[in-house]
Amino acid sequence: MALAAATSTTPLPHLRSTAATVPISAFPTALSHLSTSTKKPISITCSSTALQTSPPASATDRVFNFAAGPAVLPENVLLKAESELYNWRGSGMSVMEMSHRGKEFLSIIQKAESDLRSLLNISSEYTVLFLQGGATTQFAAVPLNLCKPDDIVDYVVTGSWGDKALKEASKYCNPKSIWSGKSEKYTKIPSFDALEQIPRAKYLHICANETIHGVEFKNYPKPASENEVLVADMSSNFCSKPVDVSKFGLIYAGAQKNVGPSGVTIAIIRSDLIGNAQPNTPVMLDYKIHADNNSLYNTPPCYGIYMCGLVFEDLVAQGGLSEVEKKNVKKAGILYDAIDGSKGFYRCPVEKSVRSLMNVPFTLAKSELEAEFVKEAAKEKMVQLKGHRSVGGMRASIYNAMPLAGVEKLVAFMKDFQARHDA
Ligand SMILES: Cc1ncc(COP(=O)(O)O)c(C=O)c1O
Repeated sequence: MALAAATSTTPLPHLRSTAATVPISAFPTALSHLSTSTKKPISITCSSTALQTSPPASATDRVFNFAAGPAVLPENVLLKAESELYNWRGSGMSVMEMSHRGKEFLSIIQKAESDLRSLLNISSEYTVLFLQGGATTQFAAVPLNLCKPDDIVDYVVTGSWGDKALKEASKYCNPKSIWSGKSEKYTKIPSFDALEQIPRAKYLHICANETIHGVEFKNYPKPASENEVLVADMSSNFCSKPVDVSKFGLIYAGAQKNVGPSGVTIAIIRSDLIGNAQPNTPVMLDYKIHADNNSLYNTPPCYGIYMCGLVFEDLVAQGGLSEVEKKNVKKAGILYDAIDGSKGFYRCPVEKSVRSLMNVPFTLAKSELEAEFVKEAAKEKMVQLKGHRSVGGMRASIYNAMPLAGVEKLVAFMKDFQARHDA
């Protein structure tokens, strides 16, 4: 297949692609004549990606994106990345073009780590790793690194992600589900006294915030194991509030909710737990390999790490995670109040004390109106409000970067929608 991209003679500064002017919805039709059965050579001319100058995008071009992840990023971070995209700080190249072993990228990854350490007050007893493969890869890496095939480990299953983690672990050790919220449709967090932990379990695993069901741990259980290893998947509430890292053996998170684009997974590990991986552990899943090489064993997701670094810098500039938490509490409060004050028109199934600050699932009493709700909201530039396919209804993900104005607009829309449909 020959791809003939149109060339451009436009002077270089402020280059922009016109691709945005071609509706994405046009692509399937445009490409529908392509068939795997055809033997004819195919030539695609990407004239729509010709580069040309255009005025800077304005805030009014943007939607309020309530997606669960990849998700909204801070506007100032995007603008900074845009300004540095073509020539990073006078280096003459983009971060995407840099050697991961060059001094420029080393300064980027080291600054990202140092800002993250200051945000979460991570002590020198912990190793910070920038990894690939998403949080899903960690579902395997955790047991491979922290226990042997016959070892018992404890899992508290408060939603679909905890359940997936448990199932993956069962390939590498002997995980026990010591509590599951499945029969109550994952709307609760158990009381910690009720947890029947197995004393010889090598670790206790939780999902700190269940992205699909909207349940969030507000404090953390103490592992009964001798080594007190609490492992948390914090993918969807990472850096949304202060966390006492010293309570954990391992925290891991996919970046694409609160702290960056997809492709970067962050792990914060108590260093004494590193170095005991099972013999058949793939190198890419072995924490020791990555720790010994400062996350540069192979080519890391450089641009993603750079973006995470910009987000960390922004969180530091906001005054750190206590300030960030205040904003998140306010945003979530406004939204839950609107739901609870709707006299049953809207409903959030999650027990109040464990409602997530990040992911707010809700349903309509008149479920036949849900599609209409999502459609009308999208027309008002509030997108991605459809609930996860496994639970239905709606879900508003209101991560750090969702502005207060976005939540206020959603709440105003909800009230208006109710007024029009609450006959
Ligand atoms: C809590 C949680 N854990 C794990 C995952 C899987 O993440 P990834 O897509 O990075 O593998 C997700 C994805 O949304 C998630 O929300």
